Amino acid sequence: AMPSENNCVKLRSDCSRPSLQWYTPARNKMKRPSFLLKKLFKYLLPMFVLWIIYTLTLNYPTEECDMKKAHYVDPDRVKRAQKYAQQVLQKDCRPKFAKTSMARLFEHRYSPDLQPFVQKAPKASEAKDKYDPPFGFRKLSSEVQSLLELLPERDFPEHLKAKSCRRCVVIGSGGILHGLELGYALNRFDVVIRLNNAPVEGYSEDVGNKTTIRMTYPEGAPLSDLEYYSSDLFVAVLFKSVDFNWLQAMLKNETLPFWMRFFFWKQVAEKIPLQPKHFRILNPVIIKETAFDILQYSEPQARFWGQDQNVPTIGAIAVVLATHLCDEVSLVGFGYNLSQRRTPLHYFDNQCMGAMTLQTMHNVTTETEFLLKLVREGVVTDLSGGIYWEF
Ligand SMILES: *[C@@H]1O[C@H](CO)[C@@H](O)[C@H](O)[C@H]1NC(C)=O
Ligand SMILES: *[C@@H]1O[C@H](CO)[C@@H](O)[C@H](O)[C@H]1NC(C)=O
Ligand SMILES: *[C@@H]1O[C@H](CO)[C@@H](O)[C@H](O)[C@H]1NC(C)=O
Ligand SMILES: *[C@@H]1O[C@H](CO)[C@@H](O)[C@H](O)[C@H]1NC(C)=O
Repeated sequence: AMPSENNCVKLRSDCSRPSLQWYTPARNKMKRPSFLLKKLFKYLLPMFVLWIIYTLTLNYPTEECDMKKAHYVDPDRVKRAQKYAQQVLQKDCRPKFAKTSMARLFEHRYSPDLQPFVQKAPKASEAKDKYDPPFGFRKLSSEVQSLLELLPERDFPEHLKAKSCRRCVVIGSGGILHGLELGYALNRFDVVIRLNNAPVEGYSEDVGNKTTIRMTYPEGAPLSDLEYYSSDLFVAVLFKSVDFNWLQAMLKNETLPFWMRFFFWKQVAEKIPLQPKHFRILNPVIIKETAFDILQYSEPQARFWGQDQNVPTIGAIAVVLATHLCDEVSLVGFGYNLSQRRTPLHYFDNQCMGAMTLQTMHNVTTETEFLLKLVREGVVTDLSGGIYWEF
């Protein structure tokens, strides 16, 4: 039997799809299919084992923190949070405030003129070519070019650009959002940025139902079509080279080759129900700026084992993106208090805060200090008080 047939049984993914696609063209090119198969097996088997382990740990967390049972929200805090959000919205919007404040706070470490989205493929000489994804597109110039050819629009949409002063809110996924009933206030921001699979459906009282930007990497993209209906922009964050293939498949409305699924650490969306004109690619220089300039993480090093812990969370990247896109920036749903291990991590699932200490990609302490600095200096406002309680 073909390896993909076996996997099909195990994975329960669409066995009806022509999952052998990848094999046929490969055979045409190489005359020795058994040799190729051996090589593929050598590579795919460890990937498969890893994938199973990931799936198991993601689906069966050891602890559960059910939001409905575990979370009491003080009504007085709800009132104050709503009042504070209203105050923020009623103040006069200050043009270019976020950018100029960032440039002042991070002198020589923040470029006010960065393009938020990729406009053209990098030339070999450009700085962003120095880094591999997610910090740059080194040696991926042609891949970027072919993606850009599928994007009819690459800039911020005109109707959003038109506003002389834009107020943005970045909605983090933190459990702290639960019960604050800030949905109505959040809908009144000009630009609402949502991250990964953070849902609207069923939670709009707390998180609103307006989405201007959904920013995510492939594994984070919502699986439910409902989450895309009102989105203005889908901003793809490309972390690794298969992410380019995934985005291309989404843009062309094609099915991802079966074997490629092993390169993602969890199930990825098969279709994104948006027209190509809604897609943008996040400028990797924004990630590079966040990681190396602002958070001052160490640059990537070749290492045998382990990770550099130099990748910012998508939340931190989104905050920096927002300062480039908007005149004023607010945050909500940010702040992981790691000492409250048994508190719900997100507003929408059963994970506990403790799960955050198990991950090895991000340095939560450094990011929290960064956000605290932004709130204390008045660069951004924190509407749910998880970073710094201002109300
Ligand atoms: C948000 O919800 C309100 C009230 O249910 C509805 O009228 C509005 O159309 C929704 N907006 C979006 C963008 O889905
Ligand atoms: C994408 O392809 C599916 C069939 O696979 C089709 O039903 C759907 O209308 C297509 N979507 C777009 C936006 O073209
Ligand atoms: C985190 O939680 C602990 C324990 O509840 C509390 O004492 C501390 O003040 C919290 N820290 C922040 C920054 O909210
Ligand atoms: C996070 O970064 C800080 C300093 O930037 C460092 O002291 C700390 O050890 C890092 N945390 C982890 C878990 O590596």
